[in-house]
Amino acid sequence: MTRAQLDKQPHEVASMFDDVAANYDLTNDVISLGQARLWRKAVARAVDARPGQKVLDLAAGTATSSLPFAATGAYTVPCDFSLGMLREGKKRHSWLPLTAGDATRLPFRDDVFDTVTISFGLRNVHDTDAALRELYRVTKPGGKVVICEFSRPTWTPFRTVYMEYLMRALPPVARTVSSNPDAYVYLAESIREWPDQPALAALLRKAGWEKTAWRNLTGGVVALHRGFKTQG
Ligand SMILES: C[S@@+](CC[C@H](N)C(=O)[O-])C[C@H]1O[C@@H](n2cnc3c(N)ncnc32)[C@H](O)[C@@H]1O
Repeated sequence: MTRAQLDKQPHEVASMFDDVAANYDLTNDVISLGQARLWRKAVARAVDARPGQKVLDLAAGTATSSLPFAATGAYTVPCDFSLGMLREGKKRHSWLPLTAGDATRLPFRDDVFDTVTISFGLRNVHDTDAALRELYRVTKPGGKVVICEFSRPTWTPFRTVYMEYLMRALPPVARTVSSNPDAYVYLAESIREWPDQPALAALLRKAGWEKTAWRNLTGGVVALHRGFKTQG
């Protein structure tokens, strides 16, 4: 069983997700205490996909995160570099154009997608700046990015309780439902190390995204960031 380290070596990250692919969605629901479904609804509202649009769901894993966009009639491309996650996704949603690709070298032309989005994926990419630049490159002028990622709870007492949950309760809870409980030690550590809301917005701007903003969900446990590519 593989557990990635905080240097996020791509082969370790990919094989860690290969290991958890079969139980990934169930584990998500359990460890997020049911919040995962609410977060996905908020992402769908922010992406606001329309029929005929092209949407890239990067780091899509088993493509559960892609379903709300596809349901609107938008042409939705789930892309991931874990073949284990993609295979599990293909078994469940064979009609979706699941695509193998690395976030730092996307296999798409410039200016293709109306919206690019990434849910719980950017934190795992070894080079955040490169992924944000690649997302920008493949987005049409005037198009947008929506990033859903764990973030920093804003209310200090809640933040303390939450960190305690992450570090102490999450690994034993994950042990009961996951095929690779060590992956959840990595999850907890990588959440703690991840930039907070203003810092992630600054990274977006550095990659070229404009009109950046964010919205906190579940008190800042998760944040939705958005940005736009300048009209040509
Ligand atoms: C926690 S899962 C999220 C899956 C899905 N978006 C969801 O919300 O359920 C993170 C995904 O990021 C993918 N990933 C990590 N680094 C990547 C990279 N450099 N390129 C493409 N996918 C990557 C992993 O393979 C994994 O499937």
